[in-house]
Amino acid sequence: MNTQHYKIYLQTFGCQMNVADSEYVASLLITSGNFQITNQLNKADVIIINTCSVRQHAEDRASSFIGRLKKLKIKNKDLKIIVLGCFAQRAKFELQKKFPFIDIIAGPLEYEYLPEILQNTFSINISKNSQHLNLFNKVSVFVPIMTGCNNFCSYCIVPYVRGTEKYRNIKEILSEIKVLLDKGVKEIILIGQNVNSYKSPNLDHELTTEATNQNINFAQLLEMIVNLYSSYKFWIRFLTNHPKDISYDIIKVIKDYSNISRHIHLPLQSGSNRILQLMNRNYTVEKYKEIIQMIRQEIPEISITTDLIVGFPTEKEEDFESTLQIVKELQFDSAFVFKYSPRKGTKAAELLDNVPKEVKEKRHFKLLKLCEEISYKKNLKYIGTTQEVLIELQKDKNTFIGKNITNKTIQITINDNSKSNINIGKFITTKICDIKNHLLISKLS
Ligand code: SAH
Ligand code: SF4
Ligand code: F3S
Repeated sequence: MNTQHYKIYLQTFGCQMNVADSEYVASLLITSGNFQITNQLNKADVIIINTCSVRQHAEDRASSFIGRLKKLKIKNKDLKIIVLGCFAQRAKFELQKKFPFIDIIAGPLEYEYLPEILQNTFSINISKNSQHLNLFNKVSVFVPIMTGCNNFCSYCIVPYVRGTEKYRNIKEILSEIKVLLDKGVKEIILIGQNVNSYKSPNLDHELTTEATNQNINFAQLLEMIVNLYSSYKFWIRFLTNHPKDISYDIIKVIKDYSNISRHIHLPLQSGSNRILQLMNRNYTVEKYKEIIQMIRQEIPEISITTDLIVGFPTEKEEDFESTLQIVKELQFDSAFVFKYSPRKGTKAAELLDNVPKEVKEKRHFKLLKLCEEISYKKNLKYIGTTQEVLIELQKDKNTFIGKNITNKTIQITINDNSKSNINIGKFITTKICDIKNHLLISKLS
């Protein structure tokens, strides 16, 4: 295939890890010199669909997207369709059979072979060590530091499709961050399925810098990044945490450095100890509360967000009531609330999915409403405060969107003859005057 100026369209479902993976794969092609990104599906020569398997709904969305590509493939025989991600890992043959027009299909456990596969498909030379290209010129960029999961929560497909935990070496992480900061990136988001279980892998002898000692833990890595790059103005954040791996050391590092985001996402999943045990979460509600208390005691201004699942097998009204109770007590800044979705191959899928659909819906609605009320109340407290805001995008001529250090989204409007020097990628200080839905509102004159 003649690869001159071939256009890649990316469609990513799922989590931050998939966003990073999609960009990595596109970067492999682009570094070879003949590809560029397009945001027009109809003009694409290569379509990369990165899929998620975490709930049935995620798989259904990916299937329906892939299904619609058939007519594009009929129109353009040279179009290459690449399906990646966790759904591809879980159901490769099923997908191939259903969509025979897919050219390449590979899940996360096969990504190490991708450079070679792409090389053969496109007859190009691919460099495996391509740098992070920040393809979309984002202000805020995901940097994967680990992948996989050893926890095997009973409902979750992730350990099966991502494998067990693998950690990136420190030298690679640090150099990627440096490249991004040099390009003007203003927020680094360290990502991993269990980011705070990070420990540096045993490194080979060629690594010489001080920064590459063995067995560095997450708190040390965080501190190292902040110190090493203290001459840059940037913020750093990390996702996602398992309660069992949150240590005092991590909280202490956040407290000590003002450019580490005052935001922690700490999935609770359920407020019932019986359900938590069935979920194999390895903590109790009491333990979780203790962690939250410790965090808030050290960093009172921190925002804490969570994930919750309703309708797990055998969840009774009293279990659900316990979830409502703890949510009221802990006052999360925001929460993702999911309806339990059985995943084939997981432990929980062996249990009867016995909470009726209508009951799941009702609990989902009730819990979501409660979480939104709490979010709203928490956001109200920001009115009248002055916040440093990182501007991430421009919505229209007079409206910008950004975030503050507690990861709240802030909408800033400027009037037509404003003298304020506001631009994407800038940090500005501004007063919050109102809130609207999930947004903090600010006006600059
Ligand atoms: N590694 C992360 C997130 C994994 S998936 C963590 O443990 O925090 C993100 C969220 O999806 C989970 O926190 C959980 O709330 C939800 N989830 C995972 N599997 C699910 C399932 N089978 N049904 C419903 N929600 C699920
Ligand atoms: Fe899934 Fe649990 Fe691992 Fe998170 S910690 S990815 S919910 S198995
Ligand atoms: Fe989905 Fe895989 Fe992420 S299952 S949530 S894309 S790790």
